[in-house]
Amino acid sequence: MKCMILTPNEENLSICLRQLRKGKVIGVPTETVYGLAGNALSYESVQKIFSIKGRPLIDPLIVHCSSSKDARKYIYAPSEFDQLCAAFWPGPLTLILKKRSIIPDIVTAGLDSVAIRIPKNSIFQSLLKNLNFPLAAPSANPFGYVSPTCAQHVEQTLGDRLGFILDDGPCNHGLESTILDMRNPANPSILRHGPVEVSAIEDILGVKVTIHNICTIKNQALESPGLLSKHYSPNACVKLFEPRSNPRIKGTEKCAIIYQSKRKEEQPKFNPAVNTYWLSDDGNPKVCANQLYSLLQKVDKSGFNQIWVEKSSDSKLGIAINDRLMRAAAED
Ligand code: TXA
Ligand code: MG
Repeated sequence: MKCMILTPNEENLSICLRQLRKGKVIGVPTETVYGLAGNALSYESVQKIFSIKGRPLIDPLIVHCSSSKDARKYIYAPSEFDQLCAAFWPGPLTLILKKRSIIPDIVTAGLDSVAIRIPKNSIFQSLLKNLNFPLAAPSANPFGYVSPTCAQHVEQTLGDRLGFILDDGPCNHGLESTILDMRNPANPSILRHGPVEVSAIEDILGVKVTIHNICTIKNQALESPGLLSKHYSPNACVKLFEPRSNPRIKGTEKCAIIYQSKRKEEQPKFNPAVNTYWLSDDGNPKVCANQLYSLLQKVDKSGFNQIWVEKSSDSKLGIAINDRLMRAAAED
């Protein structure tokens, strides 16, 4: 069976709602990346998500709700909850909170916390508003591969395992949500960098937020099993180089080079197979973040053995870009 890509008109939304009510899993647009959505309250639907994605059951899913009122049915809300909702929801922030028992254990990989998010994308919202259950949705990529930022990415990698993908064009952010652990509100911590910046969260909460870097995450495999160091990874080998430098390519491997911005100076010519790309004209981090996954997938399909990527500057959204690049380049 080959999947159908659906434009989000009324008729097609009804088809998708019927699918979800029947316990099926479909591809959905969100403002971050495309998701693989199913009934978060149904063990069977959630099991299908894991199997379609090839994801180990130890890696918990995000539960998407239509509103903060709806979200309260599934979590125990700390007093900071309303402030965070007002500032960042709907939008690209996921909160880790103590879960209520209505959320099946399979969703949270047996943890007593759940990841919860209210998406902004209007198509995803209209699905949520017309359902009487929340939607569990990981990014719609095979486990470990680069996340999808358009419906075609989902079709190319998971199309033979899905009935329908709702197509709302390219995602606004192109990077997954920021994950904030609020289990202990006195000591909030970032588990994954994303479009919502740490300083914005600190401004709202009025406390310092702890940041887990790639190494500390590696040692916390049990606490947050999904935050593996090797992730978001193309088939070609990814190598990184410092901002505004040039890669030190050795050997004769067929390489691609991805810069953050267009270079005016002459491009390095290491061997005739080298090809040069850039994420943005002028280095605007929003554009770079938005283009990163789609360019990685494009270059990955062009048969290069190595993809050399210039790191972003380590501030604001550049931190999230570098986090994904380091995982794409990680060796295990
Ligand atoms: O932007 C996004 O967040 C997208 C869209 C579809 O919403 N979703 C997404 O889901 O990126 P996924 O499954 O690819 O990444 C969710 C991450 C995983 O690394 C998982 O381990 C972590 O969230 N996670 C989920 N529940 C958790 C929990 N209770 N405690 C700690 N980490 C959790
Ligand atoms: Mg993912």
